[in-house]
Amino acid sequence: MEIKNNSAQRSEALAKLRREYLHKGLDESELDADPFVQFRHWLDEAIAAPFLEPTAMTLATATKDGKPSARVVLLKKVDDRGFVFFTNYESRKGEELSENPNASLLFYWDALERQVRIEGTIERVSKEESKAYFDERPFASRIAATISQQSRVVRSREELEKKFDELAMRYKGEIVPLPSFWGGFRVLPGLFEFWQGRENRLHDRFRYSRGAHGWRIERLSP
Ligand SMILES: Cc1cc2nc3c(=O)[nH]c(=O)nc-3n(C[C@H](O)[C@H](O)[C@H](O)COP(=O)(O)O)c2cc1C
Repeated sequence: MEIKNNSAQRSEALAKLRREYLHKGLDESELDADPFVQFRHWLDEAIAAPFLEPTAMTLATATKDGKPSARVVLLKKVDDRGFVFFTNYESRKGEELSENPNASLLFYWDALERQVRIEGTIERVSKEESKAYFDERPFASRIAATISQQSRVVRSREELEKKFDELAMRYKGEIVPLPSFWGGFRVLPGLFEFWQGRENRLHDRFRYSRGAHGWRIERLSP
């Protein structure tokens, strides 16, 4: 559908954009009792599908008085405890997570008509874990992470490039040390929700909540 330039026509056109979700449904009998196993099934299918960034997830954080913010980060590891991503600990998200340890993750895989919501608390991964991942990154990414004061105002692109070139020269052929302000966070989930689009907007939604005796699964109204 063509989206018009005029703003009234554009909002009308946006409101009319509509498609049916016909991929396939999700039945309770197909769900794994363990939400991490269920997540891995869906992640494997997303990786096999033609997405550019199947591991991209929206991370929502909040200040201590509950003012939210969101941005995309890449999932780098899922283990039995949680979901790991890497970032600058002094960035806006890093600061919000140090004053408020609650976080939410969101995956949206449109070609599969699937969404996964994850909510939990956060911990920093160990220095060793951060270092192991940092050392695996390409040289230029290690230099960029080191010179970037992520989320701070920067005077110009030239200033960034100059810092990058200087540090790249300094560490040429050498090991770039892990910066003290850079590393991983692990989201420890207390809640998952798996959403599968269905026809007539009667979507399938299953929530897993962590209780004293394991995970409880409930179907939610679309
Ligand atoms: C596809 C994609 C992947 C990204 N992956 C990361 C990431 O893994 N870590 C990260 O710190 N920022 C990543 N970013 C940049 C963040 O979205 C964001 O701009 C940056 O982390 C600063 O966020 P903040 O100011 O809220 O802290 C990614 C952005 C996109 C669009």
